[in-house]
Amino acid sequence: MKALILSGGKGTRMRPLTNTMPKQLVPVANKPILFYVLDQIIETGIDDIGIIVSPETEEGIKAAVGDGSAWNAKVTYIFQPEPGGLAQAVKISREFLGDSSFLMFLGDNLIEGGVKNFVDEFNTLHPDALILLKEVPDPRLFGVAELGPTGKIIGMVEKPKEPKSNLAIVGVYIYTADIHKAIDKIKPSWRGELEITDAIQEFMDMGKEVKSHILDGWWLDTGKKDDLLEANRVVLDGYLQRKIEGEVDSESQIVGRVEIMPGAKVENSLIRGPASIGHDCHIKDSFIGPFSSIGAGTVIEKSSIEHSVILGNCRVANMERLADSIIGGDTAVLQRQGRLKAVKLFVGDNATVEL
Ligand code: TTP
Repeated sequence: MKALILSGGKGTRMRPLTNTMPKQLVPVANKPILFYVLDQIIETGIDDIGIIVSPETEEGIKAAVGDGSAWNAKVTYIFQPEPGGLAQAVKISREFLGDSSFLMFLGDNLIEGGVKNFVDEFNTLHPDALILLKEVPDPRLFGVAELGPTGKIIGMVEKPKEPKSNLAIVGVYIYTADIHKAIDKIKPSWRGELEITDAIQEFMDMGKEVKSHILDGWWLDTGKKDDLLEANRVVLDGYLQRKIEGEVDSESQIVGRVEIMPGAKVENSLIRGPASIGHDCHIKDSFIGPFSSIGAGTVIEKSSIEHSVILGNCRVANMERLADSIIGGDTAVLQRQGRLKAVKLFVGDNATVEL
């Protein structure tokens, strides 16, 4: 089996961060989202991986993933000039995919517990397609699947007003090579995209068996600012281990599950976990509260930060309370003493914010 990761797109809902970096490389708990996806694919035993890239994401993703040797994988890049839809991404990957069955994974989705069970189920049952589903509280916001008695999918609707189930379609699928015939038959939707839900519907109309697998763990789609903060919170909360590898002076206190990476320095500060402090950070006279990730090389002085993602090489100074914020890399956020009590920001790369 091969894998196809969809890391094209424009990432408009994550601007300004995505003006300068691919959404798939935004870090969650100090690790790019795409790296979780790659780790989980490798765990299934698949090592022949195609990655869809767009004009917006190509450079960053190639620089971060390279030829895949860091994962012992063979990576092939497939260029998609416009976000023409998930099914179009499959269509342009036909040469890479050949006659192989393939695991398709959206590059901005995080799945708890990985996809090994999912791939094993496909290899045991041999359906024509296997679709990962997740129970959600409000299915009207998602693509929704309707199941028959044996777990076979019998219908699929995008954002239904009256959903027939509470099972949302997660961005992870497995198809046999026959899916290409269904994709050849579909036409662009009202939004001009070749929709994967239309391809699956066509596949079922061709008499193919489309089965479902329901995910027990969480599923996080990191398309918008608040989704990303939530993903950072959930991953830190569920998975971070206490590991102090940097330097902490005697005036500082590190409480709970805190990761301090090598080269980082903490002086006269309180860090309350779960929180991740990247390589070579300098935290001085500050409070870093729960659910915060601070990127490598960032300097925090006389500030208080909670529930935020700060990327690398930033400088944050004199912020009385920075919360629920995302700050892009190489950015400075500085406050003139004591004017603002609490601040919530979403700032891109290479910016200066003076308050
Ligand atoms: P989306 O989040 O739907 O699209 P986007 O990244 O363009 O974001 P926005 O709506 O904010 O502009 O895409 C989900 C994933 O699939 C994401 O990793 C990008 C990828 N994708 C492609 O690779 N090709 C495509 O044609 C589309 C639509 C998405």
